[in-house]
Amino acid sequence: MKVLVIGQGGREHALAWKLKQSPKVTEVLCAPGNAGTADDVRNVAVASTDIPGLVKLAKAEKVDLTVVGPEAPLVEGVVDAFKAAGLTVFGPTKAAAQLEGSKIFCKDILRKANVPTAEAWAFTDLEQAYQFLEEREDSPYVVKADGLAAGKGVVICANREEARSAIKLMMRKREFGAAGDRILIEECLVGEEVSILAIVDGRTIIPLEPAQDHKRAYDNDEGPNTGGMGAYTPASFATPDLMATVIEKILIPTVHTMKKQGCEFSGILYAGIMLTSAGPKVLEYNVRMGDPETQPVLMRLKSDLFEILYAAAQGRLKEFEEIEWDSRTAVSVVMAAEGYPYKYTNGKVIRGLDAAAKLPDVKVFHAGTDRLGNDVVTNGGRVLGVTALGDDVADAKRKAYEAVKCIRWEGAWCRKDISDKARMGETVRHGGMFPKKPTVVEEGEDSVTE
Ligand code: AMP
Ligand code: GLY
Repeated sequence: MKVLVIGQGGREHALAWKLKQSPKVTEVLCAPGNAGTADDVRNVAVASTDIPGLVKLAKAEKVDLTVVGPEAPLVEGVVDAFKAAGLTVFGPTKAAAQLEGSKIFCKDILRKANVPTAEAWAFTDLEQAYQFLEEREDSPYVVKADGLAAGKGVVICANREEARSAIKLMMRKREFGAAGDRILIEECLVGEEVSILAIVDGRTIIPLEPAQDHKRAYDNDEGPNTGGMGAYTPASFATPDLMATVIEKILIPTVHTMKKQGCEFSGILYAGIMLTSAGPKVLEYNVRMGDPETQPVLMRLKSDLFEILYAAAQGRLKEFEEIEWDSRTAVSVVMAAEGYPYKYTNGKVIRGLDAAAKLPDVKVFHAGTDRLGNDVVTNGGRVLGVTALGDDVADAKRKAYEAVKCIRWEGAWCRKDISDKARMGETVRHGGMFPKKPTVVEEGEDSVTE
């Protein structure tokens, strides 16, 4: 079988690397890929947003399964285009991808499904949004651009004044273009965040092992928000009880409601969850794997990823037997370019990759890299995801940072505390404690509150 992975980040490197391990897979292509995917699989120079180009490529190469990494092509309808061309593809349709593509659509589904989430109010008019704030108490708010804004469209505001500035930035200065023409003002939730992802085929879900990302740029969760500076799995806050609650009260009602609304969800359902004092609440949904969560999660996956995704793409997830996980812990540390998450320069030569690759239980996933002659050079803000397996969190962390030490380029930096959050949580063992078998979302299982 031939597989195409769409995208060029660390998530796509991990997907391509894992898919290639399947005995059923003869070749993996990555469009457009990076220097790391060029080593492990075959890159093809088609951009991840060039939908006609991707369809043409899949047809010409007789690809059996396409796996879409990033959200932008999903929201643009890449899955619909592939299906229309008779190609097998894993990911949500354009209509279902609205769960990530429109935060107002997402809120609407959450409400219909009676899923716990932050209270929120939608606005299309700046004055009305200001007026709303005047009438409310002066407290923290979260202002969100409705559409995709490359992870930058969420502003946490300490008070009414900051909320006004965020609204102005989105609706008057149009910082995020059309994505900010509609906004949400949300109550601000407090707690630890966990990412809980599930593979879904419209009516059946298989949860993946939970991971925890580190979104702030600097140690101790300080500094600006980023795409994610590192992740570990299993997330120690995700106890078996929490997982059971999330599946029953969050994932199942969401998948069921999507189906009822005529936009059946197939693909990865990624719930960003805040563990509040009133229980888990959904912050947002993403419709693809997390980056960098995918890197440690796939390091621990023992089952054949191709078989799972192929079954899901064909609506056969129910038949799937069981997912097997390595019971060890995986930690992934993002090495970033100087200046990230703000302005940075590409083209710095990366050294030490070979030495890092020789370390046991280590895989260096490339995110923002390119080849220049014989060199691997930086080509993005988040450059590498240095990932290691260990007997426990401390062991995995030690191995990951040992590999980080081998690698250098001008201006390279990383957080030093990836996975330390685990120690604050309940330290739990895993490997068998979460449901690994498919859960079927029954027709009658209706928690819609219309
Ligand atoms: P993004 O993944 O870029 O959309 O960023 C969303 C991030 O903003 C989440 O990971 C949270 O850290 C934060 N966030 C979103 N909604 C809320 C909320 N209602 N209360 C507190 N923090 C939030
Ligand atoms: N790690 C956060 C995300 O993928 O959105």
